Amino acid sequence: MKILVTGGAGYIGSVTTQELLNQGHEVTVLDHLKEGHPEAVDKRADFIQGDIADATLLKKTFSKKSFDAVMHFAASCLVPESVSNPSLYYQNNVTAGLCLLEAMRENQIPKIIFSSSCAIYGNPEKMPITEETHRSPTHPYGETKWAFENILKWYSQAYGLKAVSLRYFNAAGATEKLGEVHDPETHLIPNVLKAALGHLPHVEIYGNDYPTPDGTCVRDYIHILDIAQAHILTLKLEQTTAFNLGNGHGYSVKEVIQTTERVCRIKIPTKISPRRWGDPPSLIANSQKIEKELGWRPRYPALEGIITSAWKWLQNHPEGYSTKTQKTEAH
Ligand code: UFG
Repeated sequence: MKILVTGGAGYIGSVTTQELLNQGHEVTVLDHLKEGHPEAVDKRADFIQGDIADATLLKKTFSKKSFDAVMHFAASCLVPESVSNPSLYYQNNVTAGLCLLEAMRENQIPKIIFSSSCAIYGNPEKMPITEETHRSPTHPYGETKWAFENILKWYSQAYGLKAVSLRYFNAAGATEKLGEVHDPETHLIPNVLKAALGHLPHVEIYGNDYPTPDGTCVRDYIHILDIAQAHILTLKLEQTTAFNLGNGHGYSVKEVIQTTERVCRIKIPTKISPRRWGDPPSLIANSQKIEKELGWRPRYPALEGIITSAWKWLQNHPEGYSTKTQKTEAH
């Protein structure tokens, strides 16, 4: 199939691009490279540097090729930043997304697969979280993801668009060539590995007084290759729906650090810091819906394997991707 991948120079978009190409699909990546990495874009893909908010560019892109689907990863995704600058999140995650949807509509692109997030559930008490768990986002990032899911629902009803929202839990791990590089890096596993490599003096543990077994937050870490495979499976769906994507096992911050120490055979210094604003104590997925409906099974569910893949990648790329990301304005 012919797929347009927005945000294909980013962490999850680049891995999905690679896997789509490995499975014989034709991929065009659209990314403005403000956060993404040109080196992460698979050479087999066509690459367009530009913004999903650029209607003229989208028109040109869609008139050149008849795409079967769009996989929409391009988004801003830092929770604290979304609280301090909600305008940026509504613009990038909602307004720009609408521009993409309008261009799809005008050019009769029939399907979109959208990167949603467990952040739409907020702080649920009952674990694991199913797709029916009450949606109650607690920050603008989560709100924008939920808002866009709702836009997709109504566009689907009115215009016949097929839209699948994949609600990722905590994406982690690496492939041989592609790994996680954010600036700033806020995620737990990359920071623990940086501390193991000596690039950080210690790992900050944000709060050890949560109502969890060891007092630190519990998350459901899922390998990016399993996320990529879920995207590819959804291509065969002819309906509008949403799926959770997680392994169904929760690990605390302390367990992640202990597992990393075993993988790296290094004692990792830690420091207990205050809670980070907006962190729910526990987020664990029930992903039975995608298992039943699409036959998705995580191939890399073990935390140790997920961390090992990220550790190997970091050792081979201690400074991230080789050249600095080109910071360019969108067209
Ligand atoms: N944490 C630390 N130290 C760090 C980094 C993180 O203790 O240096 C803790 C966090 O407080 C949290 C856990 O590790 O309890 C996981 O944090 P991450 O930043 O790795 O991931 P989050 O669970 O905060 O974020 C993920 C996605 C977001 C999404 C969010 C929903 O990355 O996109 O889940 O809550 F919005």
